[in-house]
Amino acid sequence: MSNISILKKESLKRVFSNGFSAVRILEETCPEVSLELCTLKAGFSRGFKTYSLEERMQIFTFASGLGIIKAGKKIFPIDEQSVFIPDFDQDKLEITAGDTDIEFIHITGTMNDTDRRQMSHCQYVLPRFVRFSEAIQYTERFTQESGAKVKQHSVIAGRHLGRYTMGWVIGKGPDFVGQHTHPSLEQWYFMLQGADFTYDAGDRSIAVKEGDVSFTPHGTSHGSTCKEEGFINYVWFELNRAWDEG
Ligand SMILES: [Fe+2]
Repeated sequence: MSNISILKKESLKRVFSNGFSAVRILEETCPEVSLELCTLKAGFSRGFKTYSLEERMQIFTFASGLGIIKAGKKIFPIDEQSVFIPDFDQDKLEITAGDTDIEFIHITGTMNDTDRRQMSHCQYVLPRFVRFSEAIQYTERFTQESGAKVKQHSVIAGRHLGRYTMGWVIGKGPDFVGQHTHPSLEQWYFMLQGADFTYDAGDRSIAVKEGDVSFTPHGTSHGSTCKEEGFINYVWFELNRAWDEG
């Protein structure tokens, strides 16, 4: 039996209030993590709750649209695909959409002692804004020397946000990400603009497109293949179970 979860974009039911819609998705996948697919309509602003270091981390992943983030007295321009990590409850937080709607993924996750210790050790400074085009490119061992052209980028590196990491994968077809297994990582994929490829995980082979989201539990083999006319473009988000406590 498959333990993969998939959310297809067409199944999302958006309800707007004051120009904003947030739909909680894949609630059954992991109790520590909350995922919302959000749309903020052009010209609208929205404030967001902040959490202490004892409570939750949060990550805003901007998939499309233009706007600005205000975090206390700091301002960050949303001018391409990017990620914003607020400084817990230090700043008042507000997002404003410019002349286009903004689509983003709002992730929050519980913080444990390991998260706080890792963050303290690596001295990662928050708030942090990372444009995907400026993220560090690297090559995974399962694509190295295998003929894959797919480009992998580190958006949130290991330990910087405790158990939580994020990366971006992009490649024109034909291309692939080889089958591999993470013994301790819970993994979500958020398909981005133009995505059109096949995700093979566990006993499932799933055609995915922009706006779809997958969840793959730890210990499940997974990989992706993309035909000549297809396109690999997704952001992955992981929770490392090796650092769970209790
Ligand atoms: Fe993976």
